[in-house]
Amino acid sequence: AEIAQITLDGPAASGKSSAAQGLAKELNAYFVNTGDMYRALTSVVLSKGIDPETQPEEIEKILPEQDIRYVSGEGLELLLQINGQLAQASQVRSPEVAAKVSLVAKVPAVRQWLVKRQRQSAELGLIVMEGRDIGTVVFPEAKFKFYVSASPLVRAQRRLVQEGEVSEGATVEKVAAEIAKRDEMDMNRAVSPLKPAEDAIKVDTSDLPLEEVISLMATIVRKGL
Ligand code: C5P
Repeated sequence: AEIAQITLDGPAASGKSSAAQGLAKELNAYFVNTGDMYRALTSVVLSKGIDPETQPEEIEKILPEQDIRYVSGEGLELLLQINGQLAQASQVRSPEVAAKVSLVAKVPAVRQWLVKRQRQSAELGLIVMEGRDIGTVVFPEAKFKFYVSASPLVRAQRRLVQEGEVSEGATVEKVAAEIAKRDEMDMNRAVSPLKPAEDAIKVDTSDLPLEEVISLMATIVRKGL
C-alpha cells in the first residue's frame, strides 16, 4: 500500500517540532526532526575546528567519513546517532551550534547528503517529518503538507524558555535577533531555501495553544488518510 508522508516546514522556533512530535504521537507515526541532523553535522564540523563561514569545502571533504542517522528505539521512537554514538541534546541544541548551523546547511553537498538519508526514513511507514524543505524538496509528493509560522515576538519568547538553547544572559531582543538572522539565511540561500510548498496548509501558531495546533492538523490528516 502507498505510505503517506506528513511534512511540517517553517522558520526557527515556530513551534513546528512540538507540533510534529505531538501529531506523530496522535497518529501513531514516526517523527523525524531534520534540523537535528543539520545540527549534528554542525557539531562535528565545529569539533574538527572547521570554520563553516570560510571553509565550506572542508565540510564537503569530511562528509564521506561521517554517519548521521536515525535508528529505531523503543516502539516508534527514533534516536539520532552521530558516528555510532547517541546524539546528546547538549551537542545538537547548543547556542554555538545554532549560531553556525545555517552556514553548514547552505552547502549544496551537505543538503544532498542529508536529503538522501531523510528520504530513507520514508521506508519505515507513516512518518511526520519537520524541517525547512521537507514539503518542497525531500517529499514533494507528500500527501499532507503544513507550513507552521508564528510572530517573531512569540517565537523569541518560546525559544527563551527552552533550557540550554540560549546563551547566559539572553534577552528577548537578543534571541529575536539570532532567530531573524538564521531565518534570513535559511530563506535566501541558493539551494532549497525555506518557503511554503505551493500546496502546503499554513498554520499560524502565534495565538494557538499547542494542543489545538496538533488537533487541527490531526483532523486534516485523518480526513485524508
Ligand atoms: O529546525 P531547527 O531550527 O533545529 O534547524 C536548524 C537549522 O538547520 C535551520 O536553521 C536550517 O539552517 C537547517 N535546516 C535546513 N533544512 C532542514 C532542517 C533544518 O536547512 N530541512
